[in-house]
Amino acid sequence: MEDSDRFNSAELLQLADSIQRVFCLSDLHTDHPDNQKWLHEHMDHGNFNRDTDLIIVAGDISHDMTDTFVKSMSILTEHAQVLFVPGNHEAWIDRKHAPKSTSFDKLRQVYDVCEQMGVYTQSLLVGANSPHPLWIVPLESWYDGTLSFRESLCHDFQYWPWADFKRCVWEGYPPVEEDTDTELENPGQLPMGLVEHFLAKNEPLFLNNPFPNNIAVANTANNHKEPQSTGILTVSHFLPNVQSLPDWKDLDRAEFDDAWFDHGAGGMSAKFAKVAGSALLDDQIRRLLPSPTDDDLASNKKRNIHIFGHSHRPKDFVYEGIRYIHNPLGKPRERQLYMVSPQVDFQLVWDTQSTGEVPAVTTVIRLWEEQGGGLPALERRLASVKPRGRYNRFKGSRYNNAKTKTQQPKEQQVVEQQPQQPQANATTIPTE
Ligand SMILES: [Fe+2]
Repeated sequence: MEDSDRFNSAELLQLADSIQRVFCLSDLHTDHPDNQKWLHEHMDHGNFNRDTDLIIVAGDISHDMTDTFVKSMSILTEHAQVLFVPGNHEAWIDRKHAPKSTSFDKLRQVYDVCEQMGVYTQSLLVGANSPHPLWIVPLESWYDGTLSFRESLCHDFQYWPWADFKRCVWEGYPPVEEDTDTELENPGQLPMGLVEHFLAKNEPLFLNNPFPNNIAVANTANNHKEPQSTGILTVSHFLPNVQSLPDWKDLDRAEFDDAWFDHGAGGMSAKFAKVAGSALLDDQIRRLLPSPTDDDLASNKKRNIHIFGHSHRPKDFVYEGIRYIHNPLGKPRERQLYMVSPQVDFQLVWDTQSTGEVPAVTTVIRLWEEQGGGLPALERRLASVKPRGRYNRFKGSRYNNAKTKTQQPKEQQVVEQQPQQPQANATTIPTE
């Protein structure tokens, strides 16, 4: 079976008429016991209705398909319907027990499991008979370095111990050599061409299912009554543009401002940007989404929303006609430090019966500053949060040896996830 078979087993556009409320969450990382506990508690007490609620999960539940992923997905599907887009953690392979498998094999397994569990992974029209129908379009993607904003801070990138570089195998997409044709000064171990591969897999959504036609679908379902509002909601795990990066502070600015590095972990942020997502993804989203007219925007009749995951730094902002939302559960330590809100919950984004889009309570650009008290509060929290000792294991690694030789930035770690964690002191280590 080719890895493009996500679209072969069912219609390109599935209908879920009964859905009323649409929620989102990403980066559940239920390998962490605290996150498992969180999920149990929030599903048990969440007042979800399995017939009328849909939860969009934008990737990174767990790499462990035999146990953790299935258990977590079972809890979710017991209480609500689920639409899932795999994240980078789902692409991790077990080299020890399956030395010949690839990450393409792994993603196929993920889609198979989702299909067996009744989890949506394809385009979905919800509430077609409702006043506010919504189209949901899951998009596959990866990262390619195109969101990089400070190559000068990435000269040790080829040694950077980002876990995907060890735990993913992309047959046919090896890292490029430094002297090959790329705009990146240091492509390191990025699997070049992989984003184009995944975006090409999204193309059937454009070829066979142009979205203006879906308005006709909804009108027909509504006995030709025009909906009060319609929305198109795209979903990816990875970041689509520089504005969605954790450090990007001013949406009106075209260039990154080094003053935004006030947290002191700029080198980490610059390197994370290279594994965060792809500008090609936003190009595809904007090609997919019809541009709303000024009247549409003023009347709220047509809404464009993109949900993403991966960075563990919450976002909710509108940029050039699209609302971008990142609502991660993240790691326990990130909640302790207010990188992610300690009160994080499933975010309601659409109601097909009453309001259509559920507006943001407030714009979110840098949550730890806007709601978490900023640097002074962070310094207090850091003093009371145990540092992660596991990073000491990597002292003496090629990365740290390279740093010693070239006096590179202070960060030292194996990084499974996440960008800047403000360095309120010299020993602060970002979380995984
Ligand atoms: Fe991720």
